[in-house]
Amino acid sequence: MMQEEIKKIQDEINAFIISNESDLDNFRIDFVGRKGRLATLFDQLKNVPAEARREVGQTLNGLKNLAESKFATAQESFSNTQADVKAPDDLTISDPISQGSLHPLTMVRARILEIFNRMGFSVSDGPEIETDFYNFTALNFPANHPAREMQDTFFIEKGAGDIQDDVLLRTHTSNVQIRLMQHQKPPIRSVMPGRVFRNEAISARAHCLFHQVEGLYVDENVSFKDLKDTLYHFAKEMFGKDTQVRFRPSYFPFTEPSAEMDITCLLCKGEGCNVCKQAGWVEIAGAGMVDPNVLENVGIDSTKYNGFAFGMGIERITMLKYQIKDLRLFTENDVRFLKQFS
Ligand code: PHE
Repeated sequence: MMQEEIKKIQDEINAFIISNESDLDNFRIDFVGRKGRLATLFDQLKNVPAEARREVGQTLNGLKNLAESKFATAQESFSNTQADVKAPDDLTISDPISQGSLHPLTMVRARILEIFNRMGFSVSDGPEIETDFYNFTALNFPANHPAREMQDTFFIEKGAGDIQDDVLLRTHTSNVQIRLMQHQKPPIRSVMPGRVFRNEAISARAHCLFHQVEGLYVDENVSFKDLKDTLYHFAKEMFGKDTQVRFRPSYFPFTEPSAEMDITCLLCKGEGCNVCKQAGWVEIAGAGMVDPNVLENVGIDSTKYNGFAFGMGIERITMLKYQIKDLRLFTENDVRFLKQFS
């Protein structure tokens, strides 16, 4: 009799599906609680004949263990779900099922390339480890010119192996201009994104590693107006229609005339703040007409062709667009920063 009842309850326990908290409660009342069916069986144990009591008692204990462990497992799985909903105590622990997001620099680079792509610019690439020739000499930097030092170059070694030239980390993406013009006949219209390196102390405003996008347009009859129109259009697309733009005269060995482009500071709308150093304007690009010497250095006839070039910092543009005040955030990989761009 008793053995039959035990078998029946065992089947019921095994078949019981606990899929929510109310199932869990019912299971507890039926099988685990002090007034449950197992408790009743334990009460009846005293009526079992003495010689069989030990064996029945053992079976009953097995059943009790089965019910309790099933109950405990289910209870634990529900309490886990609850813990997930509660805020974790350690806020730096990331949610294990959260989705990743693109790095803000990746997003801004893609946007820059998209804007120029619609104006007919292709995308080109070049090496980060470069020789003095491509980073300086071909770009019309005279030997021993102070501009070479101005760029705080990381040199690797002089004349390693077969290379009869200084090897260095490129200080700008302008090296890709030279490589492109060596391999392609005009018309050339291309943008060149990449990492650049300068030996500078790391601070909120400077880093030894950052990103640029270079632009180059070489054809017949390219004018300074074409350059201004192109960058003007870029600024409006990137920062919005109300953005004001200005060009200031500047100097680069590889462009003549040269200019720097400023836009109205997006943080103070031109009124003057810490980010623009009270000027109301921030520089976003260097630019100019390709110096005829550069064209001759790569074998392009400078009496037939001319062009413009520009170079802009991706970090600077990202900082303005998203009001980020410290360059170091881009390389620290703190999820609390990165998550804000998903
Ligand atoms: N290479 C320059 C820099 O890193 C920017 C630039 C590019 C200026 C192309 C003019 C033309 O500062």
